[in-house]
Amino acid sequence: MNVVILAAGQGKRMHSDLPKVLHPLAGKALLSHVIDTARELGAGKICVVYGHGGERVREALDAPDLSWVRQAPQLGTGHAVLQAMPAIATSVPIESSTLVLYGDVPLTRLATLQRLIDAAGDAALGLLTAHLDNPRGYGRIVRVDGQVVRIVEEKDADDAERAIREINTGILVAPTAALARWLPTLGNRNAQGEYYLTDIVALAVAEGMPVATAHPDANWEPEGVNSKVQLAQLERVYQRNLAERLLEQGVTLADPSRIDVRGELVCGRDVSIDVNCVFEGRVVLGDGVRIKANCVLEDAVVGAGSIGGPFARLRPGTELGREVHIGNFVEVKNSTIADHSKANHLAYVGDATIGSRVNVGAGTITCNYDGANKFRTVIEDDVFIGSDTQLVAPVTVGRGATLGAGTTLTRDAPPDQLTVSRAKQTTIPGWKRPQKKKKD
Ligand code: UD1
Ligand code: MG
Repeated sequence: MNVVILAAGQGKRMHSDLPKVLHPLAGKALLSHVIDTARELGAGKICVVYGHGGERVREALDAPDLSWVRQAPQLGTGHAVLQAMPAIATSVPIESSTLVLYGDVPLTRLATLQRLIDAAGDAALGLLTAHLDNPRGYGRIVRVDGQVVRIVEEKDADDAERAIREINTGILVAPTAALARWLPTLGNRNAQGEYYLTDIVALAVAEGMPVATAHPDANWEPEGVNSKVQLAQLERVYQRNLAERLLEQGVTLADPSRIDVRGELVCGRDVSIDVNCVFEGRVVLGDGVRIKANCVLEDAVVGAGSIGGPFARLRPGTELGREVHIGNFVEVKNSTIADHSKANHLAYVGDATIGSRVNVGAGTITCNYDGANKFRTVIEDDVFIGSDTQLVAPVTVGRGATLGAGTTLTRDAPPDQLTVSRAKQTTIPGWKRPQKKKKD
């Protein structure tokens, strides 16, 4: 199986300098979703047809298993697939089939594509079609006695054809050798002056090749992104599906419409997640983890029984042990915090290694950055850090040490002792508050 992904379109309606297929859905470029689907299908060759001024697309997503073909100018979908033929039809004799996908259609499910591929087999042309209440804008599937005979584009259709509600999603699979035969013969005498890929249907029928159809389970599967409105709609579809999968696995979501996962979220048993949490990259939550409202977690591992939030931020490289508590307005970055430790209020923990049963007081800051380089802070087991403490890294707080509130620690603190750096408190006897002078 070869896959050709059409991604040459300009995307004018996005009103953006970023090429359309690089716009992120769930934190990943639209085109990456399609490339990953092609990989999951086990495609032998994946060829991306990219467009004018689209070098950025290639640079952003290039990988050893992809071949790239530039289509300039863009003369239609048939012309686009024709450009890919030299890259995919290389074996002699040409074997196997070619599936055509679109870089701006990110959510087609693997099972749907598999069904299409199975329906077509080795010797038929397979079309993914859908029945829509409002088919406007799409190519229509014309059938005679139930058999597909051709596709007519909306702009070329007569009234009777426009009334057809079975539409062409654009996704199709064909024997590669047949594509190589048909595509060079396409003409462009139609309403748009384009070389239509859809015209291969009539060519297949003329040759006596059977045309099979398959349908997506849900109508959002073949939907494309042409505007920010459609991008936002598909983002919600994606997030709703993902939330449903989490619920089915047993995760408790306070509101399945108020979670955003932009990457991979792996959850143990009895995890609960309150509203408005964002998960980015790969996040792992152990058994019984509770994430309270309004947290952002990115590339972080949270051990069993730990609690995060509300309003906590776990940045990349965070590893929390078991029963760790990270409270409101606490930011943790590139740090490990071992079992039973707590940072409950208003703290920055960056580039730190924190042992077990440590209490990080409110307002504690690891000063990890001197403006040029970053340094580590080490806090050993059973340390108590008083509120409003600054740890100027590199610095180590020995096991069992206590730091007095307001300390600015610039040298290592010895184990088991109280270290405090603030000025001694004094009271000035007889001191009077200044009074405002009276004018007379
Ligand atoms: C196409 C189909 C139509 C189908 C619809 C589904 C044709 C002739 N028509 O119409 O039957 O209902 O999709 O959305 O195929 N592209 C290129 N190079 C080009 C032209 C297009 O890469 O020269 C890419 C675009 O980036 C886009 C996709 O192909 O992702 C579809 O092109 P577009 O012009 O939007 O097709 P439609 O007119 O919508
Ligand atoms: Mg068009």
